[in-house]
Amino acid sequence: MIHETVDVLDPDLYLAGAPHDRFEILRREAPVYWHPEPAGRGFWAITRHADVARISRDPAAFCSGRGVFIEDFPPGDMRDNPDVMIMMDPPRHARFRALVSKGFTPRVIQRLETHVREHVTRLIDEACVRGGCDFASDIAGKLPLTVILEMLGVPREDQEQMLDWTMRFFGAGDPDVGVTPEELNAVLHNMNAYAHRLAEERRRAPKDDMLSLLMAAEVDGQTLSYTEFGGFFNLLLTAGHDTTKNLISNGMLALIEHPDQRRRLLQDPSLLPTAIEEMLRFSPPVYYFRRSAVRDTELDGQRIAAGDKVVLWYVSANRDEAVFRDPQKFDVGRTPNEHLSFGMGPHVCLGLALARLEARVAFEELLRRLPELELAGPAVRLRSNWVSGVKSMPVRCARPAG
Ligand code: HEM
Repeated sequence: MIHETVDVLDPDLYLAGAPHDRFEILRREAPVYWHPEPAGRGFWAITRHADVARISRDPAAFCSGRGVFIEDFPPGDMRDNPDVMIMMDPPRHARFRALVSKGFTPRVIQRLETHVREHVTRLIDEACVRGGCDFASDIAGKLPLTVILEMLGVPREDQEQMLDWTMRFFGAGDPDVGVTPEELNAVLHNMNAYAHRLAEERRRAPKDDMLSLLMAAEVDGQTLSYTEFGGFFNLLLTAGHDTTKNLISNGMLALIEHPDQRRRLLQDPSLLPTAIEEMLRFSPPVYYFRRSAVRDTELDGQRIAAGDKVVLWYVSANRDEAVFRDPQKFDVGRTPNEHLSFGMGPHVCLGLALARLEARVAFEELLRRLPELELAGPAVRLRSNWVSGVKSMPVRCARPAG
């Protein structure tokens, strides 16, 4: 039992990476911990692997429909849009997920490999011609952005606009991004309106892309409403880009900061699949998602009341001593590796095969062509307790060998 507040909410705590020492205390002494909220009603911080997994698999007891962020938003706020799949509960959730899941199966995603490799190679070439780049935006960010925009069917010339909207969405708590709640809502409205303009074009001339697919989709005999359609677009665009950018940036940082592990991987490239899972475990791109208790219940001796907010800290579950040997160690050969970075249960990440493919191809090329890649200045992190963002990461790179 702990008697003092262990704060894991303050976004400043995350500027140097997640506060792992605090999560360790919570896992050990108060795994289901009532966390006060300066401007809110408080929440249960769930920090052990078994509890995060159990709650994720039980949407009947812990729902997504009352919000997936810690903060409660006023009615009508676009961040709590019940028409976005991530905020839906059974049975509606499964019907919506079925509309897009066929586009993200490992077999469909595998077909993108050659194309993804062409993108990575071009981005590395461009960076090397300049002798260096901002790894986070020029390589790690551009790859997933280009791929998801192509999948959705967004024209290339609108790429900068999409990037700007995504940055505002994820960077709301960061002083450099500096977005007010009103501005953030305006961004989400603009994204909706943009998706509909594009949809109108597809109505006239359908293409082989996800927007055309969503245009034709029906749930219970009805085509998607304005907010359902816009919600899909916003979710796929934002979730499909920034998270993978942060996996690749944080993964590269971990390799640079652990030269023995980078050497091991260079000597034995067959370790790459386990290395990527370790990057996901060690620096999860998403620190948490929230659920709400549907009814009064008990967990690890704590009484949770109906309506209470329950926050699943993947970042802590991934370092649970009960599951991982030497959890604070970055080990590119770690196996098994049951990390929870993609969540679990009905909402498990839809894009995990895509994220894994992009990361594998990116690191295959990076390790082969830029084995000595080094920082040219400190990496700067996003001020956020939700996503593990890398804002900038200057690197030096020589002209690639071939
Ligand atoms: C390394 C990269 C990624 C990470 C760490 C990640 C993480 C997650 C997590 C933790 C969830 C669970 C949400 C919950 O339980 O409430 C999730 C859901 C989701 N992810 Fe990802 N994601 C990544 C990449 C992607 C990509 C590339 C896409 C492509 C479109 C994507 C699309 C989605 C969608 C649509 C959902 C909602 C699924 C649902 O509600 O059924 N993600 N992601």
